Amino acid sequence: MTPTVLVSGGAGFIGSHVTVELIQAGYNVIVADNMSNCDKTCYNGAQKITGRKIPFFKMDFCNRRAVEKLFQTNKIDAVIHFAAFKAVGESVAQPVMYYRNNLDSFLNIVDAARTYGCPNILFSSSATVYGQPEKLPVTEESPRQEATSPYGNTKQICEDVLRDSVKAYGNIRGIALRYFNPIGAHPSALMGELPRGVPNNLVPFITQTAIGKRECLSIFGNDYPTPDGTCLRDYIDIVDLAKAHVCAVDRMMADKMKEPYEIFNIGTGKPVSVMELVNAFQKVNGVKLNYKIAPRRAGDVTAVWADPSKANKELGWKAQRTIEETLKAAWTWELFIAHK
Ligand code: WQD
Repeated sequence: MTPTVLVSGGAGFIGSHVTVELIQAGYNVIVADNMSNCDKTCYNGAQKITGRKIPFFKMDFCNRRAVEKLFQTNKIDAVIHFAAFKAVGESVAQPVMYYRNNLDSFLNIVDAARTYGCPNILFSSSATVYGQPEKLPVTEESPRQEATSPYGNTKQICEDVLRDSVKAYGNIRGIALRYFNPIGAHPSALMGELPRGVPNNLVPFITQTAIGKRECLSIFGNDYPTPDGTCLRDYIDIVDLAKAHVCAVDRMMADKMKEPYEIFNIGTGKPVSVMELVNAFQKVNGVKLNYKIAPRRAGDVTAVWADPSKANKELGWKAQRTIEETLKAAWTWELFIAHK
């Protein structure tokens, strides 16, 4: 029988791309989302791309009874958890809201999974757990650093919840994927990022500036100790990132895990500076960006990029798409939503 994967937050940016890759790899997918931070654009896009009617539940994972019911009434072989708040600044202003939402939802999922026979749990974690690493690139063994925001702390706590639960209960196994900076959009231009209000992240701010929604991009700091003075990040294409989830689910399903709880860095291994990204965007899309150098943004780390060799070797996954392809897709998506 075809295994079924529950994708919490499956209507969002990352969740919708993962849904498509899972279906294309032969899985059944159930999407559940409370739609608190997205509309149905990406979910509809996922249905169009796959040509499938994807089962959808509008529900809040903080509602324990609803989560139990979902696991009781569906045979779920694996769950991937994306349903969470993700704005770093907002989490500093609203810590209780962040802790309640991001922790309750995951606790409910782990509890329901172990109780109702779903043995495989995949958690979407973040490179934010590494803070500013002493040694670069970062491996999975690099120490986590004290989180600088409640958002980042919820990622660390959920990793620990998964690790401890796998150890205690014996009937579940878990993988945490630590994403670096996911960017881009589906090449079909039917799914992509839809930030509400002013984007916090670099690429949506770039595309919105290029199309004229924003006046000017601020480059936060050019006096960092890096080759061109701007920060270095590991930008990972959203479709490549989504494929890593399929590899991780395959690994769990096939019982190929070396430990019952595993962590993988999901990045390219190549550092790219803010300035390089801005220049690549202009070049590949033939557009001119209005930008200025602004003061550093509080809380930014200077440089972080992955050593993805564990994921390369153990998951059989590797980032494929070039930064140019990714930035082209991001721009095509911006043009698509502008004309919708
Ligand atoms: C990238 C670089 C900025 C906007 C954050 C979260 C992390 C993760 C992904 C989310 C930095 C610079 C940005 C702008 C700029 N998780 N920048 N002008 O900060 O690496 O990571 O998003 O769910 O947890 O912290 O990503 O895209 O915000 O910034 O110059 O208008 O671009 O200073 O160097 P970041 P980002």
